[in-house]
Amino acid sequence: MNEAALEAAGVDSYRTREAKQQPTWPDQDALARVTPRLEQVPPLVFAGEADVLREHLAAAGRGEAFVLQGGDCAEIFAEATADRIRNKIKTILQMAVILTYGASTPVVKIGRMAGQYAKPRSADTETRDGVTLPTYRGDIVNSHAFTEEARVPNPERLMDAYHVSASTLNLIRAFTQGGFADLRLVHAWNKGFAANPAYSAYDRMAAEIDRAVRFMGAAGGDFDALKTVDLFSSHEALLLDYERALTRIDSRSGRAYDCSAHFLWIGERTRELDGAHVEFMSRIHNPIGVKLGPTATVTDAVALAEKLNPDNVEGRITFVARMGAQHVREALPPLVEGVRDAGLNVTWLTDPMHGNTFTSDSGFKTRRFETILDEVTGFFEVHGAAGTVPGGLHVELTGDDVTEVMGGTEEIDDDGLARRYETKVDPRLNHQQSLEMAFKVSELLSAR
Ligand code: PEP
Ligand code: CO
Repeated sequence: MNEAALEAAGVDSYRTREAKQQPTWPDQDALARVTPRLEQVPPLVFAGEADVLREHLAAAGRGEAFVLQGGDCAEIFAEATADRIRNKIKTILQMAVILTYGASTPVVKIGRMAGQYAKPRSADTETRDGVTLPTYRGDIVNSHAFTEEARVPNPERLMDAYHVSASTLNLIRAFTQGGFADLRLVHAWNKGFAANPAYSAYDRMAAEIDRAVRFMGAAGGDFDALKTVDLFSSHEALLLDYERALTRIDSRSGRAYDCSAHFLWIGERTRELDGAHVEFMSRIHNPIGVKLGPTATVTDAVALAEKLNPDNVEGRITFVARMGAQHVREALPPLVEGVRDAGLNVTWLTDPMHGNTFTSDSGFKTRRFETILDEVTGFFEVHGAAGTVPGGLHVELTGDDVTEVMGGTEEIDDDGLARRYETKVDPRLNHQQSLEMAFKVSELLSAR
């Protein structure tokens, strides 16, 4: 019955299209044993929750909310510990309070969490000292260690990804609904950050936020309502075997939803109009994103919006621009103007991370805080000039004190990168850099 409904919803039409960035599973029988099991497991999220997020994203597209989407480049199974998950949630919530102040609108919080396990790679294999092995494609496919056993794609990992996503999501739900997200508590953590003399540049804004929170309390603000928050889950819908297996028919509407996360996005390397990823995503009803890099044309953007959102539903499509700081002011305006002139409802986010990656002199893959901020600034300028809405920020971050991104007030230089460089894929803003970014973006938002 359900299978027939899924087929009628067209969720298998992608199978005849070219799917880029998929692993070569050496054991197809093992894959064929795992996917039917995944088709039977309970959904990780509900269609109704995805619908709520679509409404929030629609509001962000109109300038009535601002989106903060953040988390690891690649989540690691072994790092899905209570401490690390809590630190990440805490960082996102702290940033959200700072952004709420600048935006004077609600902030829609989305984690790159509970499912961000599949990575696109530039090569299929990696060679070290004459040994060639399959490239690391994320924990849902293989493991990072450079051994044959670790690197051979293993379909059992799809099942592991589901279970680690479930336990991560369970903790997210507990932390955000169970009192940990109370505005006063989050605000107290931010006071700790602002008390550090290194960040005295933000004293004024921190004091203003403090006054606003105290005013709310004095005026009898309903703190019960501020004790819980919604933190939605998201990841790149890259591994189609997994995404298809987690797709369910919503009993209320009869529509297909990918229940692996609330929000799914199509990456820069898999956004071909006639490719398998765009085809699959056109069949599910979650709110979805598409990354757009500097080579994207107006024609691409308009065609993607039309294919993925033929009814022009507000909040259904989010374009995540990742141009690079040196390109954003030239490459983004034609896209924003073209989408605007075509009358398409799109929510625009900036991903100031992926166009700004380079290798430091000492050999670390890194990014510079100031360059990241420059791309965000360019994004706001472009929307200001076009009369359109800069709807949100998409960043790679962690709640821990890693040293992966250079710069920031507590200047991490090339030598500093080696101190605590942990990421398996892309460099992330650490806790302090994330909060500093939030203050900077908050300033941009108050002028929006
Ligand atoms: C990512 O978000 O980690 C990523 C791979 O981004 P992009 O598709 O924009 O390169
Ligand atoms: Co990344």
